[in-house]
Amino acid sequence: MEIKKWWKEAIIYQVYPRSFQDSNGDGTGDLNGITQRLDYIKDLGANAIWICPMYKSPWSDYGYDISDYYKVSEAFGTNEDLYRLIAKAKEKGIRILLDLVINHTSDEHEWFQKALANPKSKYRDYYFFKKGANGKPPNNWRSYFGGSAWEPVPNEKNMFYLHAFTTKMPDLNWENEEMKQELYKMINWWVEKGVSGFRIDAIMNIKKTMLAGDAQKDGSDGLVAIDKYIINQPGIQDLLFDLKKNTFAKHDIMTVAEAAVPDDELENFIGNDGFFNMVFDFRAADIDVPETGEWFLPTNWTVNELRDALLTAQTSVQKMGWGATYFENHDQNRSINKYFSRNKEDISEVTKKMLATILLGFRGTPVIFEGEEIGMENIELASIDEYEDVATHNQYNNGLASKLDEKTVFDLVSYRSRDNSRTPMQWDASLHAGFSTATPWLPVNPNYKVINAEAAIQNKNSIYHHYKNLLSLRNHGTFKNVLIYGKTVPKFADLDNIMAYERVLNDQKVLYFANFQNKTMEFNPSDFTGNLLSNNYDELLIQDGKFIAQPYQAIVIDRNV
Ligand code: BGC
Repeated sequence: MEIKKWWKEAIIYQVYPRSFQDSNGDGTGDLNGITQRLDYIKDLGANAIWICPMYKSPWSDYGYDISDYYKVSEAFGTNEDLYRLIAKAKEKGIRILLDLVINHTSDEHEWFQKALANPKSKYRDYYFFKKGANGKPPNNWRSYFGGSAWEPVPNEKNMFYLHAFTTKMPDLNWENEEMKQELYKMINWWVEKGVSGFRIDAIMNIKKTMLAGDAQKDGSDGLVAIDKYIINQPGIQDLLFDLKKNTFAKHDIMTVAEAAVPDDELENFIGNDGFFNMVFDFRAADIDVPETGEWFLPTNWTVNELRDALLTAQTSVQKMGWGATYFENHDQNRSINKYFSRNKEDISEVTKKMLATILLGFRGTPVIFEGEEIGMENIELASIDEYEDVATHNQYNNGLASKLDEKTVFDLVSYRSRDNSRTPMQWDASLHAGFSTATPWLPVNPNYKVINAEAAIQNKNSIYHHYKNLLSLRNHGTFKNVLIYGKTVPKFADLDNIMAYERVLNDQKVLYFANFQNKTMEFNPSDFTGNLLSNNYDELLIQDGKFIAQPYQAIVIDRNV
């Protein structure tokens, strides 16, 4: 019997604060903007908000480079604004989750500044400072965003510091006990301030297997991918156990880790005594990212592979514990563009509703990224200069350094860019989409006159109402228990391009079914009897004793009749 927990019943709405709602007319979203929009989030059916980093930061990676863990960035408001947001949200039954970025800090964090100022300072050991070999970096690791993962220390000969992400994001040394205690203190402090949990960033990177000297290069830049030396390294579980014991375990909070965990280790991560309540699975989100080699060329994935990725994640996670389910976040392009990148002509309300149906029936805590619920799409900016994302610029430069021509590189990079999901939220058809009265920090998608929340709320047939209906099935009433606590059982798995599963609890059964292709398919209607709970078409077509599933039709049926 599944243990009941509030965080299993949560529905998370992810807010990228810079892009959600500007309340003071400076073109940048802020915390008071989120407070203004709490009713929108509640009406949709969400009861928790994960706010991407809102801490003080010099913005090299838009907030994932934190220079003060205790302070709200001036760009987003004040700590008091955050406390007010937490209190107002609580009144409405919404919990606030913060982003916990503890693999690295900004180079402008006081610890790093002190480490730079004095080589003898204790803060040196909070990070990885290492001697190079004759002015060359200690090894040939490539940072995630491209280039060497080692940066020379200014004014010191032959000394480098490690940064797995941008040069302005030095990695923290988790072998240093005092540094860890500082992080634990900070985490407990935020819980005392009323936050209900954390999304935990890049946590699989905290243990490093240091490499003295170069490894075999895997690219023309002479470098080697850093992943295999800093992701899920031997010893990481001791660190995670200690983290949990000193922080999360002391409170009734929710923890969602950004952690791709191998199936055979899931129990330690998300089992009853796991380090976290749940993790994000990357299999489906990264379906078009090649495992090795050229990041920029999308894989030739098939719908069957996508289905298997999604359903394997479901069935392996449910053996061990709980998961967080999602299609979009601030690091991904929009899901409709990703899953229809090769058949753009099929992008429509129907296909967007189909994706929603597949996602929102899954076992796990759903995470909806701002704008996903109104079907927001990728943006097409005219040139690389219009992109803000540091990863996009690095990828562009790497692409140019390879043999591809400029246009091909630009097309590939702009398709993948994280800015696709970071464009301002489209609230209405007024200037700047109701996001701000000033020119936004990143352009609004020109389709905002058609795709916006106000229009979606007014149209009872919209994607927004489709989301709302699917979420309300989970939130209350007859299906709540089966949709939250039921097992996922794959259905029709031997049929090409059919993505279907049942949620099953005791004698209750709810079928989620999607015909993920641009053609009809015939079925025996007896496999579909029951009350229709959701449909992205106006009707179910029964002809000559057959159920004819329409192109991209997605339905939910209560099979318990
Ligand atoms: C976040 C990214 C960020 C990186 C470094 C991630 O996984 O989601 O947005 O760039 O961690 O903090």
